[in-house]
Amino acid sequence: MLQTCLFPAAGYGTRFLPATKSLPKEMLPIITKPLVHYGVEEALEAGMDNMAFVVGRGKRALEDYFDISYELEHQIAGTSKEPLLTDIRKIMGSCTFSFTRQNEMRGLGHAIYTGKTLVRDEAFGVILADDLCINEDGENVLSQMMRIYERYRCSIVAVMEVEREQTKSYGVVSGRFIEDDLLMVDDMVEKPDPSEAPTNLAIIGRYILTPDIFDILEHTKPGKNGEIQITDALKTQAKQGMVLAYKFKGRRFDCGSIDGFMEATNFFYAKEYKK
Ligand code: UTP
Repeated sequence: MLQTCLFPAAGYGTRFLPATKSLPKEMLPIITKPLVHYGVEEALEAGMDNMAFVVGRGKRALEDYFDISYELEHQIAGTSKEPLLTDIRKIMGSCTFSFTRQNEMRGLGHAIYTGKTLVRDEAFGVILADDLCINEDGENVLSQMMRIYERYRCSIVAVMEVEREQTKSYGVVSGRFIEDDLLMVDDMVEKPDPSEAPTNLAIIGRYILTPDIFDILEHTKPGKNGEIQITDALKTQAKQGMVLAYKFKGRRFDCGSIDGFMEATNFFYAKEYKK
């Protein structure tokens, strides 16, 4: 039902330096597939076919990944290696890709605002590809959120419980549970100190946003760390109307951190390669 998935991918990925000096963080592979590949697969499964990327300087590898590599294709055509390209070919044949640049790193809210030009005037999904989410027992996380969107037609953020001392790394929500796993948000705080965090429900890199978020972002002042925060814009949206926080089913690997990246690598190795 929603067509566009926005991938903010302009960040520097400093935690993976020096690799990210010339390689976009989103291109770091979990075994053989780059992080962004998993993200696009999730969006496709959720029914979206317009993949919109907000990139920055030095991120050309992302565009090239979703384009034909004639020389390579020619070289391996008809060989035993050809099946290795089956997945990416399938993706390329199933959706369109568009790219715009955020030329200054002014925060995730600003990156999403920059993507306005690629999003039609309708609700859209957002995937931060360095959060790799899986659900082995059913629908993927974005698909679960689509179901909720179909019922409530408002912005939705995916949340998970974290240890208290970790709240300083996340946007944190509070509100009232309207269903077992669904919270009507009344407050949001970006990276609160554990002593000030209203709850331990942390926002992860999956959102469904209604398009009025762009007007709100346009008027959102820089917040924590001098960046335009999507959390601040969502808080405004919650006050003006309704924002839901959804405790998703499944597992999320924080592949923007070394520990999370290694966990994901070990998980997928055990699942798909170690027979
Ligand atoms: P992070 O906080 O993970 O920052 O951004 P980062 O630069 O990617 O990584 P580190 O902390 O330096 O290692 C969260 C998401 O928001 C995007 C990033 O690309 C990432 O997907 N982002 C952040 C932007 O696109 N633009 C920004 O100005 C900030």
